[in-house]
Amino acid sequence: MSERMTKGSVIAQYLPERVTPVGETIAPVFAPSNIALCKYWGKRDVELNLPINSSLSISLAHLGTQTRLSVSDEDAVWLNGEKVAAQDKFARKVIAFIDLFRGPQGSPVKVETDNNIPTAAGLASSASGFAALMLAIDGFYGLKLDPQCLSAFARMGSGSASRSLYTGFVEWQMGVREDGMDSIALPLDSHWDALRIGLVKVSVAEKAVDSRSGMNRTVETAHLYQSWPLQAAADLERLHQAIADKNFTQLGETAEQNALSMHATMIAAWPPLLYWQPGSVAAMHRIWQARAEGVEVYFTMDAGPNLKLLFTAEAEAAVKHYFPDMEVIAPFG
Ligand code: ADP
Ligand code: DP6
Ligand code: CO
Repeated sequence: MSERMTKGSVIAQYLPERVTPVGETIAPVFAPSNIALCKYWGKRDVELNLPINSSLSISLAHLGTQTRLSVSDEDAVWLNGEKVAAQDKFARKVIAFIDLFRGPQGSPVKVETDNNIPTAAGLASSASGFAALMLAIDGFYGLKLDPQCLSAFARMGSGSASRSLYTGFVEWQMGVREDGMDSIALPLDSHWDALRIGLVKVSVAEKAVDSRSGMNRTVETAHLYQSWPLQAAADLERLHQAIADKNFTQLGETAEQNALSMHATMIAAWPPLLYWQPGSVAAMHRIWQARAEGVEVYFTMDAGPNLKLLFTAEAEAAVKHYFPDMEVIAPFG
């Protein structure tokens, strides 16, 4: 069987013959957003969102997406209390994902989804968005999928969503199978109560190039990308070691270098991709200045201009001195 697999063909193998709602509506479900310390960057299969490298993230506790599905006269998608036009890309992606489960002839649904993080601004709304949608689909149609299936199917909505089904540290193992059913996330059995994440918002406007296009463009056009898989594999090891040893210096240094290496591959793409704004660079310099002055703070950044700071509870007051407006998250508290 050499025919290329599609999302629909993979999912169909795990569904009952008829997928119908179990009731009028479901209680809203929540999934946290997450930030990667070792990034997912590059796909070996763009249809199934199978990654070139494994990645490791921390979920953002109460920050994320709440989604609810109900029976309706027509398909309708509501984001943050406002109806999204049916032809809008956002609505089309949500409905296309639901179609993978109910089929295109399935009965219409209303989707109500609320992000308490900015949408499409590099704060991983696609991760919490598709993880919450996957959980809502599972509940609404009574699928009772096991956690591995939920993670694999959420990944088909957005790769980073595979990790948003869990709290705390999460590893997404790249897997080797052609159908991707071993390309799933698993929670690490480690807590780090003192760990803190600071969100430094430079701009919450929707980015001009979404993560998906940015990633594909980088793989296709940046020679520098060749070095990425090796770097990611080495960083993943170092992060596991840092978490096992509670070695914050190693965690922070590895995460910051991993993020900057990913951005280096983007800058080397054509047309070039620079998600940074002047405010992003100013924040980086402030972080390096804080470190030079003895405050242990590191950063990571995704496909957007905003920074996520990494520090421990004992450094929180000192870090706030440099970033008075940051929002602080205690991912294990
Ligand atoms: P981000 O950095 O926010 O993850 P991406 O470019 O990866 O940005 O993804 C943004 C896309 O994620 C949106 O255009 C939309 O398709 C999807 N998305 C965001 N929030 C939700 C949600 N609540 N439900 C479903 N999909 C969502
Ligand atoms: C830089 O998961 O948003 O945030 O799979 O195409 O939906 P798609 O991309 P997405 O990419 C996230 C990229 C990143 C790194 C990461 O979260 O690991
Ligand atoms: Co995303």
